[in-house]
Amino acid sequence: MSNDALQDQVLGHADEADGIEEYDNRLPRWWVGLFLFCVAWSPVYAVHYHFVGGRSQAGEWQQEMDAAAIRWPQPTAEQVAGLTVTPEVLTEGEAIYKTNCIACHGPTLEGGIGPSLVDDVWIHGNSREQILGVVTNGVTEKGMPPWGPILGPEKAFKVAAFVHDLGTGQP
Ligand code: HEC
Repeated sequence: MSNDALQDQVLGHADEADGIEEYDNRLPRWWVGLFLFCVAWSPVYAVHYHFVGGRSQAGEWQQEMDAAAIRWPQPTAEQVAGLTVTPEVLTEGEAIYKTNCIACHGPTLEGGIGPSLVDDVWIHGNSREQILGVVTNGVTEKGMPPWGPILGPEKAFKVAAFVHDLGTGQP
């Protein structure tokens, strides 16, 4: 029996449904087509949204952050101190280290009261910016004094460059 024969027949349970009559007709082809299209489309869209197009919320956030970094560039440690790392800067950094830091970090940066600055373990990160940040602001509650106010930005930069150079093997 073709379904069409059942077209427009009332199912007959209006008494259970506040008098609302119901048909059980086949869904229109365009509706079923649209539904199947959506089912087929959704994985394509999901993959594109989350993985390819970078349009997830995380992706959008990252894009905004990248755009902000271009629009408001953060000054590097070099720019803040107005210096670049040269052999002279490193020599001066070494002298500043010997005067101020040996007591806690040891003559060869091997550590003592303060942590070693030549191993692979860095509590606060080992980019030159991060080292300069720790040197400048200190970690007072752990016993690392803030050197920014004592040394000033130039000397802080030089000693941080020295520690970075020796501690990471990167200039
Ligand atoms: C009074 C002792 C003391 C002196 C002096 C001192 N430090 Fe420290 N330093 C510490 C301690 C303690 C820590 C560990 C801080 C922590 O646990 O967060 C530290 C941490 C550091 C770190 C971070 C290490 C890491 O693993 O992330 C750097 C870099 C550093 N000091 C550089 C210096 C430099 C450069 C000087 C000299 C200008 C200096 N320190 C002088 C005690 C000292």
